[in-house]
Amino acid sequence: MSATHEWWQRGVIYQIYPRSFQDSNGDGVGDLRGVRDRLDYIKWLGVDAIWISPIYPSPMADFGYDISNYIDIDPIFGTLVEFDELLAETHRRGLKLILDFVPNHTSDQHPWFQASRSSRDNPKHDWYIWKDPAPDGGPPNNWLSNFGGKAWTLDERTGQYYYHAFLKQQPDLNWRNPEVKEAMLDVLRFWLDRGVDGFRVDVIWHIVKDEEFRDNPLNPEYGPGQPPHHEVLATYSTDRPEVHDIIARMRGVFDAYGERMMVGEIYLPVERLVTYYGAHGSGVHLPFNFQLINLPWNARTIERAVENYEAALPPYGWPNWVLGNHDQPRIASRVGSAQARVAAMLLLTLRGTPTMYFGDEIGMHNVPIPPHLVQDPFEKNAPGLGLGRDPQRTPMQWSSEVNAGFSRAQPWLPLADDYARVNVETQRDDPQSMLTLYRRLLALRRSEPALEIGQYRPIPAEGDILAYLRSRKDRQFLMVVNLGGHECAYQAEMPIVHGRIALSTHLDRQGEEVQGSVKLRPDEGVIIERGESHLV
Ligand code: GLC
Repeated sequence: MSATHEWWQRGVIYQIYPRSFQDSNGDGVGDLRGVRDRLDYIKWLGVDAIWISPIYPSPMADFGYDISNYIDIDPIFGTLVEFDELLAETHRRGLKLILDFVPNHTSDQHPWFQASRSSRDNPKHDWYIWKDPAPDGGPPNNWLSNFGGKAWTLDERTGQYYYHAFLKQQPDLNWRNPEVKEAMLDVLRFWLDRGVDGFRVDVIWHIVKDEEFRDNPLNPEYGPGQPPHHEVLATYSTDRPEVHDIIARMRGVFDAYGERMMVGEIYLPVERLVTYYGAHGSGVHLPFNFQLINLPWNARTIERAVENYEAALPPYGWPNWVLGNHDQPRIASRVGSAQARVAAMLLLTLRGTPTMYFGDEIGMHNVPIPPHLVQDPFEKNAPGLGLGRDPQRTPMQWSSEVNAGFSRAQPWLPLADDYARVNVETQRDDPQSMLTLYRRLLALRRSEPALEIGQYRPIPAEGDILAYLRSRKDRQFLMVVNLGGHECAYQAEMPIVHGRIALSTHLDRQGEEVQGSVKLRPDEGVIIERGESHLV
């Protein structure tokens, strides 16, 4: 390990959606023992850390993002003892383990909320966000739930409305209450004491709301087909200035342990996103950068975005990149299977910590879910808009065996119909498979500090081509990637295309000498190791 860089700067994070990774007890839902059984695969793949989406007790209204006890494991996933075993086995392999922390809201079944709603005088009443009805008896303001409908629900017993940015089964905590803050920081300590290496913090930009609960402005660009909550801009319900003090308090907890990290889920434009590093680095270690997910797949757009992002980073801000997660359509469906290989190269060679989503390494795509099998509440509340997240949450495809080797039982979501072909077992020894590409990219990255932590420098390019250099000391790599479906040649004005191909997304050009220009096939990206005499 370099003295100048932390594990979460050099390493690659692999997200596991635990319901869908590996079922060990035959109930059709993945579990902790299943993850443990697959640790050798994860190590073999070549990543450094796993992030596991919520595994805590939950009524599963939002599949674990509605937590009814922050300091235990849901029986569907296992037990605390099994968690400790998983953690120990993860560490034994030199891997890190990151858990999900969901500070914005609890389940409505959490004892805190049960107490809070029991009466206006209950000491925990103020732990959540309660407001009297508007004069007409309606909700206190115009805020909308991210999952459709109003963000306020009237509770008969107290005669007040409570706020929920997501489902009504997910009431928002009141982070302005000092007791809430202390209780939630204790949750972090509970898991950090057990030895977890970090947390992915759910919707961190949501946790504080406007003190005056002003109406959100209407969105002038709202139109049919958009998610219903986009009708208003979340100006007063998210990204409030006070959030940074709270994150700094969380950060203080992490700093007391050393070598732990916090990555924040934040969907905001870059200039707002970078404020989450906090003043002088007192914020999250990494604010998730979702630009490769959100931007059109176009070379010039992405080139500009990388440049703007690099320029916007504060001196203490370490970059990061993400291609997919359990909330977003899979990359292979978004850009196509051929471009997904180019995307993998970008993810693992741009400057910053990459986060992979399980299954992307074998090119899994979104699986269409027939209406009677829909699980996701988002799809149920706003059907037919393509917002449902089940398609990207289907079980991992391990082999061509029954249920893809995921489970002995009927899986909780249907498997992709191509699983007999697209799976770990068939791709493992295939020299040209997506899995082999990911392994080779990960291995190259791990062996070259220039790719892990080196400087980034954009190189002018045109059309569908994106070109950039990564350098460290006397090592230099030139990436030339073709984001289009046509063959093209790349020739730079400066004498930069000199060296040897270390890796092509097609996995068939290693060692080829290039001089002056390089030809790229459709959907091809290459990593060129630059000869020493030509370093710039
Ligand atoms: C985050 C999670 C998402 C969840 C939501 C509410 O965006 O990633 O899955 O539904 O928060 O907790």
